[in-house]
Amino acid sequence: MASVPAAAPDRLSLRRPDDWHVHLRDGALLQAVAPATARVFARAIVMPNLSPPVTTVEQGRAYRERILQAVPASLGFTPLMTAYLTDTIDPAEIARGHAEGVFTACKLYPAHATTNSAAGVSDIMRLEPVLDTLERIGMPLLIHGEVTDAEIDIFDREAVFLERVLDPLLQRHPALKVVLEHITTSDSVQFVIEAGPNLAATITPHHLHINRNAMFKGGLRPDFYCLPVAKRELHRLALRSAATSGNPKFFLGTDSAPHPRHAKESACGCAGIYNAPFALESYAEVFEQEGALDRLEGFASLHGPAFYGLPVNRQRITLVRESQVVPPRLHGNDAAGSAVELVPFHAGERLGWRVELLD
Ligand code: NCD
Ligand code: ZN
Repeated sequence: MASVPAAAPDRLSLRRPDDWHVHLRDGALLQAVAPATARVFARAIVMPNLSPPVTTVEQGRAYRERILQAVPASLGFTPLMTAYLTDTIDPAEIARGHAEGVFTACKLYPAHATTNSAAGVSDIMRLEPVLDTLERIGMPLLIHGEVTDAEIDIFDREAVFLERVLDPLLQRHPALKVVLEHITTSDSVQFVIEAGPNLAATITPHHLHINRNAMFKGGLRPDFYCLPVAKRELHRLALRSAATSGNPKFFLGTDSAPHPRHAKESACGCAGIYNAPFALESYAEVFEQEGALDRLEGFASLHGPAFYGLPVNRQRITLVRESQVVPPRLHGNDAAGSAVELVPFHAGERLGWRVELLD
Protein backbone atom coordinates (compact mmCIF):
# COMPACT_ATOMS: atom_id res chain seq x y z
CA MET A 1 0.00 0.00 0.00
CA ALA A 2 1.33 3.45 -0.87
CA SER A 3 1.70 5.86 2.02
CA VAL A 4 -0.46 8.97 2.29
CA PRO A 5 1.24 11.87 0.52
CA ALA A 6 2.34 14.60 2.94
CA ALA A 7 0.26 17.21 1.13
CA ALA A 8 -2.99 15.20 1.22
CA PRO A 9 -5.85 17.72 1.32
CA ASP A 10 -8.36 18.12 4.14
CA ARG A 11 -11.17 18.96 1.78
CA LEU A 12 -11.82 17.36 -1.55
CA SER A 13 -14.34 18.84 -3.95
CA LEU A 14 -15.67 16.61 -6.70
CA ARG A 15 -18.40 16.62 -9.21
CA ARG A 16 -21.40 14.92 -7.67
CA PRO A 17 -20.91 11.17 -8.24
CA ASP A 18 -23.31 8.55 -9.62
CA ASP A 19 -23.81 4.98 -8.47
CA TRP A 20 -23.81 2.69 -11.50
CA HIS A 21 -25.22 -0.35 -9.64
CA VAL A 22 -27.51 -0.26 -6.62
CA HIS A 23 -30.40 -2.25 -5.13
CA LEU A 24 -33.04 0.13 -3.80
CA ARG A 25 -35.60 -2.62 -3.07
CA ASP A 26 -39.29 -1.87 -2.66
CA GLY A 27 -41.88 -1.21 0.04
CA ALA A 28 -40.59 -0.61 3.57
CA LEU A 29 -37.00 -1.34 2.61
CA LEU A 30 -37.11 1.17 -0.25
CA GLN A 31 -38.30 3.85 2.19
CA ALA A 32 -35.49 2.92 4.56
CA VAL A 33 -32.60 2.85 2.10
CA ALA A 34 -33.26 5.12 -0.90
CA PRO A 35 -32.51 8.43 0.89
CA ALA A 36 -28.95 7.29 1.72
CA THR A 37 -28.17 6.84 -1.97
CA ALA A 38 -30.02 9.99 -3.09
CA ARG A 39 -28.24 12.17 -0.52
CA VAL A 40 -24.87 11.69 -2.20
CA PHE A 41 -25.38 10.31 -5.68
CA ALA A 42 -27.07 12.33 -8.43
CA ARG A 43 -28.07 9.27 -10.45
CA ALA A 44 -28.12 5.57 -9.85
CA ILE A 45 -28.56 2.55 -12.04
CA VAL A 46 -31.29 0.72 -10.15
CA MET A 47 -31.30 -3.06 -10.21
CA PRO A 48 -34.55 -4.71 -11.34
CA ASN A 49 -34.39 -7.87 -9.18
CA LEU A 50 -37.61 -7.21 -7.33
CA SER A 51 -40.09 -9.95 -6.72
CA PRO A 52 -41.57 -10.12 -9.34
CA PRO A 53 -38.72 -8.65 -11.42
CA VAL A 54 -39.03 -5.50 -13.52
CA THR A 55 -39.60 -6.85 -17.02
CA THR A 56 -42.08 -4.42 -18.59
CA VAL A 57 -42.04 -0.71 -19.38
CA GLU A 58 -45.03 -0.16 -17.11
CA GLN A 59 -43.31 -1.89 -14.18
CA GLY A 60 -40.17 0.19 -14.78
CA ARG A 61 -42.16 3.42 -14.88
CA ALA A 62 -44.13 2.54 -11.73
CA TYR A 63 -41.00 1.51 -9.82
CA ARG A 64 -39.26 4.76 -10.80
CA GLU A 65 -42.27 6.64 -9.43
CA ARG A 66 -42.11 4.75 -6.11
CA ILE A 67 -38.40 5.56 -5.80
CA LEU A 68 -39.01 9.24 -6.45
CA GLN A 69 -41.74 9.23 -3.79
CA ALA A 70 -39.29 7.71 -1.30
CA VAL A 71 -36.64 10.46 -1.54
CA PRO A 72 -36.89 14.21 -0.87
CA ALA A 73 -37.31 16.02 -4.21
CA SER A 74 -34.81 18.65 -3.02
CA LEU A 75 -31.98 16.13 -3.45
CA GLY A 76 -32.41 16.19 -7.23
CA PHE A 77 -31.93 12.44 -7.53
CA THR A 78 -32.56 10.62 -10.81
CA PRO A 79 -33.08 6.85 -10.75
CA LEU A 80 -31.97 5.20 -14.00
CA MET A 81 -34.06 2.11 -14.52
CA THR A 82 -33.06 -1.29 -15.83
CA ALA A 83 -35.00 -4.14 -17.41
CA TYR A 84 -34.55 -7.66 -16.06
CA LEU A 85 -33.78 -10.08 -18.88
CA THR A 86 -35.56 -13.42 -18.97
CA ASP A 87 -35.57 -16.26 -21.48
CA THR A 88 -38.78 -14.97 -22.96
CA ILE A 89 -38.57 -11.18 -22.76
CA ASP A 90 -39.70 -9.42 -25.93
CA PRO A 91 -36.93 -7.27 -27.51
CA ALA A 92 -39.63 -4.86 -28.70
CA GLU A 93 -40.63 -4.13 -25.08
CA ILE A 94 -37.04 -3.27 -24.21
CA ALA A 95 -36.62 -1.07 -27.27
CA ARG A 96 -39.86 0.73 -26.43
CA GLY A 97 -38.73 1.26 -22.82
CA HIS A 98 -35.47 2.71 -24.07
CA ALA A 99 -37.17 4.95 -26.66
CA GLU A 100 -39.61 6.24 -24.01
CA GLY A 101 -36.79 7.09 -21.61
CA VAL A 102 -37.82 4.51 -19.00
CA PHE A 103 -35.03 1.94 -19.35
CA THR A 104 -31.39 3.02 -19.44
CA ALA A 105 -29.91 -0.49 -19.55
CA CYS A 106 -30.73 -4.20 -19.36
CA LYS A 107 -29.60 -6.54 -16.62
CA LEU A 108 -28.53 -10.09 -17.28
CA TYR A 109 -28.70 -12.44 -14.30
CA PRO A 110 -27.82 -16.02 -15.11
CA ALA A 111 -30.75 -17.99 -13.63
CA HIS A 112 -30.18 -18.76 -9.93
CA ALA A 113 -26.89 -16.82 -9.75
CA THR A 114 -28.04 -14.61 -6.87
CA THR A 115 -30.94 -13.02 -4.92
CA ASN A 116 -34.20 -13.02 -6.91
CA SER A 117 -32.60 -14.38 -10.05
CA ALA A 118 -34.75 -17.48 -10.49
CA ALA A 119 -36.44 -15.83 -13.47
CA GLY A 120 -33.06 -14.97 -15.03
CA VAL A 121 -31.58 -16.31 -18.24
CA SER A 122 -31.13 -20.08 -18.38
CA ASP A 123 -29.47 -20.22 -21.80
CA ILE A 124 -27.58 -17.22 -23.12
CA MET A 125 -28.18 -18.25 -26.73
CA ARG A 126 -31.90 -17.64 -26.22
CA LEU A 127 -31.05 -13.99 -25.70
CA GLU A 128 -29.56 -13.49 -29.15
CA PRO A 129 -32.53 -11.48 -30.51
CA VAL A 130 -32.38 -9.25 -27.41
CA LEU A 131 -28.63 -8.74 -27.73
CA ASP A 132 -29.02 -7.87 -31.43
CA THR A 133 -31.55 -5.23 -30.42
CA LEU A 134 -29.37 -3.76 -27.66
CA GLU A 135 -26.42 -3.61 -30.03
CA ARG A 136 -28.52 -1.84 -32.66
CA ILE A 137 -30.06 0.76 -30.33
CA GLY A 138 -26.88 1.35 -28.29
CA MET A 139 -28.37 0.26 -24.97
CA PRO A 140 -25.89 -1.14 -22.44
CA LEU A 141 -26.04 -4.71 -21.16
CA LEU A 142 -25.15 -5.09 -17.47
CA ILE A 143 -23.91 -8.52 -16.53
CA HIS A 144 -23.77 -10.46 -13.29
CA GLY A 145 -20.75 -12.44 -14.46
CA GLU A 146 -20.88 -15.81 -12.76
CA VAL A 147 -21.61 -19.25 -14.12
CA THR A 148 -24.17 -21.10 -12.05
CA ASP A 149 -22.96 -24.63 -12.74
CA ALA A 150 -22.87 -26.41 -9.36
CA GLU A 151 -19.77 -28.29 -10.54
CA ILE A 152 -17.79 -25.07 -10.57
CA ASP A 153 -16.30 -23.96 -7.27
CA ILE A 154 -18.00 -20.78 -6.06
CA PHE A 155 -14.67 -18.92 -5.96
CA ASP A 156 -14.05 -19.75 -9.64
CA ARG A 157 -17.46 -18.86 -11.05
CA GLU A 158 -16.50 -15.39 -12.24
CA ALA A 159 -13.27 -16.47 -13.95
CA VAL A 160 -15.05 -19.36 -15.71
CA PHE A 161 -17.80 -16.98 -16.87
CA LEU A 162 -15.25 -14.82 -18.70
CA GLU A 163 -14.04 -17.69 -20.78
CA ARG A 164 -17.26 -19.65 -21.28
CA VAL A 165 -19.80 -16.88 -21.69
CA LEU A 166 -18.43 -13.35 -21.90
CA ASP A 167 -15.66 -13.78 -24.42
CA PRO A 168 -17.89 -15.54 -27.00
CA LEU A 169 -20.69 -13.02 -26.35
CA LEU A 170 -18.40 -10.06 -27.06
CA GLN A 171 -17.19 -11.74 -30.23
CA ARG A 172 -20.75 -12.27 -31.43
CA HIS A 173 -21.68 -8.67 -30.58
CA PRO A 174 -18.63 -6.46 -31.07
CA ALA A 175 -20.66 -3.23 -30.99
CA LEU A 176 -22.60 -4.10 -27.81
CA LYS A 177 -21.82 -1.95 -24.77
CA VAL A 178 -21.30 -4.23 -21.79
CA VAL A 179 -20.67 -3.51 -18.12
CA LEU A 180 -19.23 -6.43 -16.20
CA GLU A 181 -20.60 -5.66 -12.79
CA HIS A 182 -19.07 -5.80 -9.34
CA ILE A 183 -15.88 -7.52 -10.51
CA THR A 184 -14.00 -9.49 -7.86
CA THR A 185 -10.95 -11.03 -9.53
CA SER A 186 -7.64 -10.12 -11.14
CA ASP A 187 -8.86 -12.24 -14.08
CA SER A 188 -11.70 -9.79 -14.67
CA VAL A 189 -9.42 -6.78 -14.27
CA GLN A 190 -7.11 -8.19 -16.93
CA PHE A 191 -9.98 -9.19 -19.20
CA VAL A 192 -11.53 -5.72 -19.07
CA ILE A 193 -8.20 -3.96 -19.67
CA GLU A 194 -7.51 -6.12 -22.72
CA ALA A 195 -11.00 -5.95 -24.23
CA GLY A 196 -12.15 -3.22 -26.62
CA PRO A 197 -13.68 0.11 -25.53
CA ASN A 198 -17.21 -1.35 -25.35
CA LEU A 199 -16.45 -3.30 -22.19
CA ALA A 200 -16.26 -1.61 -18.78
CA ALA A 201 -16.61 -2.77 -15.18
CA THR A 202 -17.92 -1.51 -11.87
CA ILE A 203 -16.13 -2.11 -8.57
CA THR A 204 -17.80 -2.10 -5.13
CA PRO A 205 -16.38 -0.58 -1.95
CA HIS A 206 -16.53 -3.90 -0.12
CA HIS A 207 -14.48 -5.79 -2.69
CA LEU A 208 -11.82 -3.07 -2.30
CA HIS A 209 -11.79 -3.47 1.49
CA ILE A 210 -12.28 -7.13 2.29
CA ASN A 211 -11.03 -10.46 1.08
CA ARG A 212 -12.72 -13.80 1.74
CA ASN A 213 -11.20 -14.14 5.20
CA ALA A 214 -13.63 -11.46 6.41
CA MET A 215 -16.50 -13.95 6.20
CA PHE A 216 -14.81 -16.32 8.65
CA LYS A 217 -12.97 -14.04 11.07
CA GLY A 218 -13.57 -15.43 14.56
CA GLY A 219 -16.77 -17.16 13.42
CA LEU A 220 -19.24 -16.99 10.56
CA ARG A 221 -19.85 -13.35 9.55
CA PRO A 222 -22.94 -13.03 7.36
CA ASP A 223 -22.49 -9.27 7.00
CA PHE A 224 -19.56 -9.89 4.67
CA TYR A 225 -21.37 -12.40 2.50
CA CYS A 226 -22.33 -11.11 -0.93
CA LEU A 227 -22.29 -12.29 -4.51
CA PRO A 228 -19.97 -12.53 -6.25
CA VAL A 229 -18.31 -13.64 -3.07
CA ALA A 230 -15.10 -11.84 -1.97
CA LYS A 231 -11.96 -13.63 -3.18
CA ARG A 232 -8.31 -14.00 -2.12
CA GLU A 233 -6.14 -11.05 -1.13
CA LEU A 234 -4.33 -11.01 -4.48
CA HIS A 235 -7.65 -10.29 -6.18
CA ARG A 236 -8.51 -7.48 -3.76
CA LEU A 237 -5.15 -5.87 -4.53
CA ALA A 238 -5.77 -6.15 -8.28
CA LEU A 239 -9.16 -4.45 -7.83
CA ARG A 240 -7.59 -1.65 -5.81
CA SER A 241 -5.03 -0.97 -8.47
CA ALA A 242 -7.67 -1.07 -11.25
CA ALA A 243 -10.03 1.30 -9.42
CA THR A 244 -7.29 3.80 -8.61
CA SER A 245 -5.44 3.51 -11.95
CA GLY A 246 -7.35 6.26 -13.74
CA ASN A 247 -8.40 3.80 -16.46
CA PRO A 248 -11.87 5.00 -17.59
CA LYS A 249 -13.06 1.41 -18.03
CA PHE A 250 -13.45 1.13 -14.25
CA PHE A 251 -16.07 3.08 -12.36
CA LEU A 252 -18.14 3.26 -9.21
CA GLY A 253 -20.98 0.81 -8.62
CA THR A 254 -21.69 0.11 -4.97
CA ASP A 255 -23.87 -3.00 -5.34
CA SER A 256 -25.40 -1.82 -2.08
CA ALA A 257 -27.76 -4.75 -1.45
CA PRO A 258 -29.64 -4.38 1.84
CA HIS A 259 -31.37 -7.25 3.56
CA PRO A 260 -33.02 -6.90 6.97
CA ARG A 261 -30.74 -8.10 9.74
CA HIS A 262 -32.85 -11.16 10.48
CA ALA A 263 -32.56 -12.28 6.83
CA LYS A 264 -28.76 -11.99 6.93
CA GLU A 265 -28.34 -13.62 10.34
CA SER A 266 -30.20 -16.79 9.54
CA ALA A 267 -29.42 -20.43 8.85
CA CYS A 268 -29.54 -19.60 5.14
CA GLY A 269 -28.53 -15.96 5.14
CA CYS A 270 -29.09 -13.69 2.11
CA ALA A 271 -26.21 -12.45 -0.02
CA GLY A 272 -25.69 -8.71 -0.07
CA ILE A 273 -23.84 -5.91 1.73
CA TYR A 274 -25.57 -2.64 2.61
CA ASN A 275 -22.94 0.00 1.94
CA ALA A 276 -24.97 2.97 0.65
CA PRO A 277 -24.86 5.19 3.78
CA PHE A 278 -21.05 5.49 3.80
CA ALA A 279 -20.18 4.39 0.28
CA LEU A 280 -18.30 7.46 -0.89
CA GLU A 281 -16.38 7.70 2.38
CA SER A 282 -15.48 4.03 1.98
CA TYR A 283 -14.10 4.57 -1.52
CA ALA A 284 -12.25 7.72 -0.37
CA GLU A 285 -10.49 5.66 2.29
CA VAL A 286 -9.20 3.26 -0.39
CA PHE A 287 -8.09 6.01 -2.76
CA GLU A 288 -6.28 7.77 0.06
CA GLN A 289 -4.51 4.58 1.17
CA GLU A 290 -3.41 4.05 -2.43
CA GLY A 291 -2.15 7.65 -2.73
CA ALA A 292 -4.70 8.30 -5.48
CA LEU A 293 -7.20 10.79 -4.05
CA ASP A 294 -6.73 12.86 -7.19
CA ARG A 295 -8.24 9.97 -9.19
CA LEU A 296 -11.36 9.54 -7.07
CA GLU A 297 -13.37 12.03 -9.13
CA GLY A 298 -12.67 10.15 -12.37
CA PHE A 299 -13.78 6.85 -10.85
CA ALA A 300 -16.80 8.25 -9.01
CA SER A 301 -18.08 11.00 -11.27
CA LEU A 302 -16.57 10.98 -14.78
CA HIS A 303 -15.87 7.50 -16.17
CA GLY A 304 -19.43 6.22 -15.72
CA PRO A 305 -21.18 9.03 -17.60
CA ALA A 306 -18.56 8.81 -20.36
CA PHE A 307 -19.28 5.12 -20.85
CA TYR A 308 -23.06 5.56 -20.77
CA GLY A 309 -22.89 8.62 -23.04
CA LEU A 310 -24.56 10.81 -20.41
CA PRO A 311 -23.54 14.32 -19.29
CA VAL A 312 -21.46 14.67 -16.14
CA ASN A 313 -23.23 16.21 -13.15
CA ARG A 314 -23.00 19.97 -12.72
CA GLN A 315 -23.35 19.93 -8.94
CA ARG A 316 -20.34 19.36 -6.72
CA ILE A 317 -19.93 17.72 -3.35
CA THR A 318 -17.18 18.00 -0.77
CA LEU A 319 -15.45 15.29 1.18
CA VAL A 320 -14.06 16.58 4.45
CA ARG A 321 -11.28 14.88 6.37
CA GLU A 322 -13.20 14.24 9.55
CA SER A 323 -13.29 10.94 11.31
CA GLN A 324 -16.64 9.35 12.07
CA VAL A 325 -17.72 6.03 13.50
CA VAL A 326 -20.20 4.06 11.41
CA PRO A 327 -23.20 3.06 13.55
CA PRO A 328 -23.37 -0.67 14.29
CA ARG A 329 -27.04 -0.75 13.24
CA LEU A 330 -29.36 1.45 11.24
CA HIS A 331 -33.11 1.61 11.66
CA GLY A 332 -35.52 2.69 8.97
CA ASN A 333 -39.23 3.06 9.49
CA ASP A 334 -41.85 2.04 7.01
CA ALA A 335 -45.12 3.91 6.57
CA ALA A 336 -46.74 1.76 9.25
CA GLY A 337 -43.99 2.72 11.70
CA SER A 338 -42.39 -0.69 12.04
CA ALA A 339 -38.62 -0.65 12.12
CA VAL A 340 -36.32 -2.28 9.57
CA GLU A 341 -32.99 -3.14 11.12
CA LEU A 342 -29.94 -3.03 8.86
CA VAL A 343 -26.23 -3.55 9.47
CA PRO A 344 -24.20 -1.13 7.35
CA PHE A 345 -20.84 -1.99 5.81
CA HIS A 346 -18.04 -0.78 8.16
CA ALA A 347 -20.41 -1.18 11.15
CA GLY A 348 -18.66 0.10 14.27
CA GLU A 349 -15.52 1.13 12.34
CA ARG A 350 -13.96 4.55 12.06
CA LEU A 351 -13.77 6.19 8.63
CA GLY A 352 -11.56 9.17 7.91
CA TRP A 353 -13.81 11.17 5.58
CA ARG A 354 -17.28 12.65 5.70
CA VAL A 355 -19.47 13.85 2.84
CA GLU A 356 -20.59 17.42 3.30
CA LEU A 357 -24.01 18.47 2.08
CA LEU A 358 -24.37 19.53 -1.54
CA ASP A 359 -22.75 22.86 -2.44
C1 NCD B 1 -27.76 -8.81 -4.57
C2 NCD B 1 -29.13 -8.71 -3.93
O1 NCD B 1 -29.25 -8.96 -2.74
O2 NCD B 1 -30.08 -8.31 -4.62
N1 NCD B 1 -26.89 -9.49 -3.69
C3 NCD B 1 -25.54 -9.42 -3.67
O3 NCD B 1 -24.92 -10.16 -2.92
N2 NCD B 1 -24.89 -8.55 -4.41
C4 NCD B 1 -27.88 -9.46 -5.89
C5 NCD B 1 -26.66 -9.28 -6.74
O4 NCD B 1 -26.36 -8.19 -7.20
O5 NCD B 1 -25.96 -10.28 -6.95
ZN1 ZN C 1 -26.15 -6.23 -7.38
